[in-house]
Amino acid sequence: PMVEFLNYEVIDDYDWNVDDDGLFDKAAAMGLDAEDYGQFYVLNNETLLEAAENRGYEWPFACRGGACANCAVAVVDGEMDMPSNHVLSSEMLDRGFRLSCISAPITDHMQVIYNIKHLPGLDELRL
Ligand code: FES
Repeated sequence: PMVEFLNYEVIDDYDWNVDDDGLFDKAAAMGLDAEDYGQFYVLNNETLLEAAENRGYEWPFACRGGACANCAVAVVDGEMDMPSNHVLSSEMLDRGFRLSCISAPITDHMQVIYNIKHLPGLDELRL
C-alpha cells in the first residue's frame, strides 16, 4: 500500500481545516518539507509507524503498544486494520483516528494526517 501523509503541524500553522476535501491537493501544491508532506510504501509485515520509520521518517510515538495515542493518525482516505484499542473513543474512531503503532493499511492507497496529538479532542487524552 502507498501512503500519502501530511503533518498536522502544517494544518495548524496555515489554519487549514482537517475536514477540507482539498487538503492533500493544497499540501501537494505548497512545496512543503519532505518530513511534512510526502508518500511512502508500507510493506506487508509493517505497521504504519514502522513503515514511516523504516523509510526514514520520525513520527511521534511513546508506548508502541496501543496504550497512549501519541502515535495517532487521522485517516482521510483508505482504511487501516487496528487489532485492539483501549484509548480512542468511538467518536474518535468515527472521525478516522487510528493508532499507527499497531495499525496497518488494508487499502492500496491511503491518505493520513500524522502528529495529530494536538488536534482538538485528542489533546484531552493526557498524552
Ligand atoms: Fe502509544 Fe501507539 S505509541 S498507542
